[in-house]
Amino acid sequence: MLVVEGGHPLEGVVTCSGSKNAFLPIAAAALLTSETVKVRRVPDLADVRLILNILEGLGCSVERDLTTSTVHIRAKDLPLGEAGWEDVRRMRGSVYVLGPLLARTGSAKVSLPGGCVIGQRPIDIHLRGLQELGAKVDIDHGHVVASVPGGRLRGAHMYLGGSSGSSVGGTGNIMMAACLAEGETIIEGAACEPEIVDLGHFLISMGAKIEGLGSPRVTVTGVEELGGCEHEVIPDRIEAGTYIIAGALTGGRVKVDECEPGHLAVLLARLHEAGVPLEIGGGFIETQPFDPHDPGNGLRATDVTTLPYPGFPTDLQAQWMVLMTQAPGISVITEKLFPDRYMHMPELLRLGAELRRQNAGTAIVQGGTRLSGAPVTASDLRASAALVLAGLIAKGETEIHRVYHIDRGYERIEERLGTLGAVIRRESDPWQA
Ligand code: EPZ
Repeated sequence: MLVVEGGHPLEGVVTCSGSKNAFLPIAAAALLTSETVKVRRVPDLADVRLILNILEGLGCSVERDLTTSTVHIRAKDLPLGEAGWEDVRRMRGSVYVLGPLLARTGSAKVSLPGGCVIGQRPIDIHLRGLQELGAKVDIDHGHVVASVPGGRLRGAHMYLGGSSGSSVGGTGNIMMAACLAEGETIIEGAACEPEIVDLGHFLISMGAKIEGLGSPRVTVTGVEELGGCEHEVIPDRIEAGTYIIAGALTGGRVKVDECEPGHLAVLLARLHEAGVPLEIGGGFIETQPFDPHDPGNGLRATDVTTLPYPGFPTDLQAQWMVLMTQAPGISVITEKLFPDRYMHMPELLRLGAELRRQNAGTAIVQGGTRLSGAPVTASDLRASAALVLAGLIAKGETEIHRVYHIDRGYERIEERLGTLGAVIRRESDPWQA
């Protein structure tokens, strides 16, 4: 567990890591070629270890150098194996192997991920897209079993959105599969997230022909084969955003270096509206010292609605809620992507926050409350981050249990917050014994 002693001002610099959610599909895309791919700026995270284990299980050779944050992956020999339930259950991002396996080998068997604490999380869009490319897809004893009659996928013109709009994972999976399909694939309703653009750049370095990246209409012209390449992963915008919110909450000068402010335009605009002074430059964002509780110049209640990129990221919703507990007045948070992604609320209530759920997907924050430390339980990655942020400003000590979730997405968080002046330590968790 993490134990955070609240009330210490933060000041200093953190360097942004490579993006977890960009690396996961990039690692899976290595399955598309028999040559070696080299990826730089790979974060040292539990989810990264898991996808690399899955790739090894599928027959890839993986060499990782933690000192240079570099990974070499080679999927030389075929046929490849299957991605089993244990792995997929632990990380839904493992479904990214489906498209590349199918495109490269003509068949794939991947466990069907169940729901998770942030909501139902179906993969129907992924499966529909693969069927549009000519795959035969069956669900058999909890597995997706897919094959390609005729051996090669065929390009198609498809709409890939769902009821909540575009799908990050669905777009990534289909984009990867379409690279080796015969002819042209047009994906309408494609996800515009920077992580998908980064995947696209990686695929292009492998020899893929892709146009329209970052727009809702992506065109992929299939090629016979892809080759090895070298690529550097983009900075993790969610990690950067989390540390910026930490700076804003504590009123300190926190600089996140080597990030991409352009990927966080909506967060920066909302922070400006909420009264947080910022300096933004090429590759950095820095919160400026201020008193969040100053009645005239402190934090202001500011509503957000989570939406696909470039809208407000669902992965920063929980952290934003913590910030709003300190802004006097009422703010409304609307979660459009995962309407049940509010598992952090009961825990924040234990710290003294005033919150309530309204309609499906909506939460009301009565801000301006002083939080006080208590034992709380982390339910998922971003909820854990939110609880750590709350602990930074709560009076006394906050114990965050089941904190293993945080290691899935934040590299050495206690060390980094520690260098900023936070008082935070990791202890063995009696609740996990
Ligand atoms: C990615 O998940 C991220 N994960 C999530 O980050 C992130 O919260 C999410 O995108 C939204 O930004 C990875 O990149 C590994 P989606 P993904 O498909 O791809 C619905 C984190 O904390 N949908 O864009 O699974 C879905 O239910 C994680 O790092 C379908 O209906 O998200 C949701 O409402 C958590 N059918 C919406 O689309 C499908 O087949 C967007 O989901 C797929 C999705």
